[in-house]
Amino acid sequence: MLQGQLITLDEFTIQETRKFPQATGELSSLLRDIALAGKIINKQVRKAGLSDILGKQGTSNIQGEEQMKLDVIADETLIHVLKNSTDCAGIASEENDDHVSYEDTFSANSKYVVLFDPLDGSSNIDVNASIGTIFSIYRRVSELGTTCTEADFLQPGNKLMAAGYIIYGSSTMMVYATRLSVNGFTLEPSIGEFCLSHPNIKCPENGKIYSVNQGNMNKFSDGLKSYLEYCMEVNKEEGRPYSHRYIGSMVGDLHRTLIKGGLFMYPADKSSPNGKLRLQYECNPMAFIVEAAGGIASNGDIDILDIMPTELHQRVPVYIGSKKMVEKVLAMAHAKD
Ligand code: AHG
Ligand code: MN
Ligand code: MN
Ligand code: MN
Repeated sequence: MLQGQLITLDEFTIQETRKFPQATGELSSLLRDIALAGKIINKQVRKAGLSDILGKQGTSNIQGEEQMKLDVIADETLIHVLKNSTDCAGIASEENDDHVSYEDTFSANSKYVVLFDPLDGSSNIDVNASIGTIFSIYRRVSELGTTCTEADFLQPGNKLMAAGYIIYGSSTMMVYATRLSVNGFTLEPSIGEFCLSHPNIKCPENGKIYSVNQGNMNKFSDGLKSYLEYCMEVNKEEGRPYSHRYIGSMVGDLHRTLIKGGLFMYPADKSSPNGKLRLQYECNPMAFIVEAAGGIASNGDIDILDIMPTELHQRVPVYIGSKKMVEKVLAMAHAKD
């Protein structure tokens, strides 16, 4: 595509906003601020091996995970950029115990709150594999003009206004979804802009790739074990065995699943009855994106987006991706309940 024909993220969101006469442009402006934070984080990620920002920070987060230096840098960047934004009343992050309410007048009058996983795939930082940032945007339920409250952050995924991720992969991309569509923007480094590269993304209805930490198999339920056997079974007519792909970065594994089709899961197991992944920072935003693209996301019983959150950092089992593959794994998992 010629440079002059590029559509930037800003241009795209403004054009989308114009379709709705009542829209104020605040959501577009907030997405621009998140993209700015993404560009700053991207700059750090791209030179991580040269500056002293690889490795461990020496601290733990509320979930007992050891923080990496980049977890903290990405978290601080987002908190700072969104504080300066005129469209964000407060944030909640995987890396912080509680939500942060911004106290200034602009923020108190902002209608949106943002939740994020500042750096997803921490364990991949030091080995130079794909990592990402995941974000969710809710309209606050507390009164405008006041500081935001925890209730603003404890809304179910079906109330999301928008959600997305930035993947720091072989190129840097921002993918975001509204209820209307899912669109992907690749960072064009020479102009420092995210430009539309993947319009109207649809998750294929079926796929041939499954993504799970198969090392946990012996801790899985019998139904799940039989599904994994099914994936590995040789059946030429049905296109099996399927391929197994697992990076260990939800962003990386989900990005592939969204584009190529497939199944991603992090199920409950004997030692982790709620799985590992966080409802508010990882599962809800990814479920919103995948469902807006035509896929499915479930905790094994109900749609992820219908779970009423009770705690900021709660974990849930997740099965997400192509409609047919998710339906199959759920049917087989339930058959042996
Ligand atoms: P985070 O780096 O934000 O803590 O998230 C890590 C998550 C997720 O990205 C990935 O899907 C999962 O952990 C991998 O877990 P296992 O190493 O247990 O497979
Ligand atoms: Mn973590
Ligand atoms: Mn994560
Ligand atoms: Mn993280």
